[in-house]
Amino acid sequence: MIDVLLGLQWGDEGKGKIVDYLAKDYDIIARFQGGPNAGHTLYVKDKKVVLHTIPSGVFHDDIINVIGNGVVIDPITLKKELETINSHGVDPVSKILVSDRAHIILPTHRALDKANEIAKGKNKIGSTLKGIGPTYMDKTGRNGIRVGDVHKDDFVERYNRLKEKHSKLLSQMGFDEDLATYEEGFFEAVEVLKTLKVIKAEYYLNKAIDAGKKVLAEGAQGMMLDIDFGTYPFVTSSNTISAGLCNGLGVPPTKVGKVFGITKAYCTRVGGGPFPTELFDETGEKLRKLGSEFGATTGRPRRCGWLDLVALNYSCMINGVTDLIITKTDIMDEFETIKVATSYIVDGGETQEFPFEYQPEECEPVYEEHAGWEGNLSECKTIADLPKNFVAYQKSIESYLDVKVSFVSNGVGREQLIQLG
Ligand code: GDP
Ligand code: IMO
Ligand code: MG
Repeated sequence: MIDVLLGLQWGDEGKGKIVDYLAKDYDIIARFQGGPNAGHTLYVKDKKVVLHTIPSGVFHDDIINVIGNGVVIDPITLKKELETINSHGVDPVSKILVSDRAHIILPTHRALDKANEIAKGKNKIGSTLKGIGPTYMDKTGRNGIRVGDVHKDDFVERYNRLKEKHSKLLSQMGFDEDLATYEEGFFEAVEVLKTLKVIKAEYYLNKAIDAGKKVLAEGAQGMMLDIDFGTYPFVTSSNTISAGLCNGLGVPPTKVGKVFGITKAYCTRVGGGPFPTELFDETGEKLRKLGSEFGATTGRPRRCGWLDLVALNYSCMINGVTDLIITKTDIMDEFETIKVATSYIVDGGETQEFPFEYQPEECEPVYEEHAGWEGNLSECKTIADLPKNFVAYQKSIESYLDVKVSFVSNGVGREQLIQLG
């Protein structure tokens, strides 16, 4: 069986930490979409590590980490990550396998990402500028270069052909940055990529599952950034939902077991796009400060707001969540009242369905208030320690979503997690 773990909001729900914790129960961890736009934080012996492309099981002994066909790889970022892993005494070559079908982010993809954002002006997406959109565009446009291509004799020729195409586009867009600065280190990084073991990951994973091995698929971004069901066009360019694992790894839905969905106890979003429960006041500032809400990839301040149960319910439906995980509950310790949106006013009527237009002007959240909890959740170790008001809050979320909470995360550390079911 393959289980999947994914973010139910706009990313940064704590996927890295939870995968790192759950990894002990799995043989293989596999990333199925996204690329270096992701920043997954975990702690290795109290040292913070942020992973972008490499699955979050890499610091465990005896776990294989697969970068699947649905992922887009920037060799330059990957090289840096491999150096970080090495500095922690982990040999990446024995632990990481890469699909021959994963697409490569070229330096000019990053330049195009920037040029596209500049052209959008005030309507810009707020992309991480890692070249994600242009690389997926070349994939669907049937122009892309894949990991399996880097070993071929005509790799440089193909690279130059695509680069030429991009250069023309960039000059049409009036982009006049020196492309050589983007290209710096690319070919050196490709040589490092070549040292990793490249496999037919779909065969590897299906055979492993059939042989009884346990696989965990690690999502990147979050459901609300999904290209189909997210807040389009303010989304990323891949399918971040649970179904994405089937085409991002080549594993059929009949082999999927549990779907772990992660939500923070509040909402954050980084980049542009609608966010009706966003707080612009001191409460939002308090969430950002207490939650250290600054992007793990770009360092940008994350926008903060109250939990949106309508969006979360939509997310649970699309993903088929079987196990809910609530993170950052400790951040709410300081709040006397905690609000959650339970419906929206759209076109003068109340609805619990996620609307086509999610703009705050067209979708006004209706809130339910919960009393804050007595005592510090961050100090709880077992279910018995959980404050009464927290349990009431948790139960009301479970009842709204009709999904059980499996884990409550109450701190950054791997073990700061309380298993409920
Ligand atoms: P990811 O992209 O989903 O892996 O999440 P990020 O790593 O981008 O952001 C999550 C941040 O929250 C990281 O800094 C984590 O160390 C931190 N974090 C995760 N879970 C908890 C938690 O339960 N409590 C607190 N205080 N921080 C957490
Ligand atoms: P993890 O895996 C939060 C956001 C960007 C932007 C939009 C499109 O760490 O949760 P892109 O670079 O993909 O073209 O950006 O998506 N975004 C993320 N936000 N966490 C992420 O990943 C994100 N990856 C992309 O901020 O709004
Ligand atoms: Mg992140």
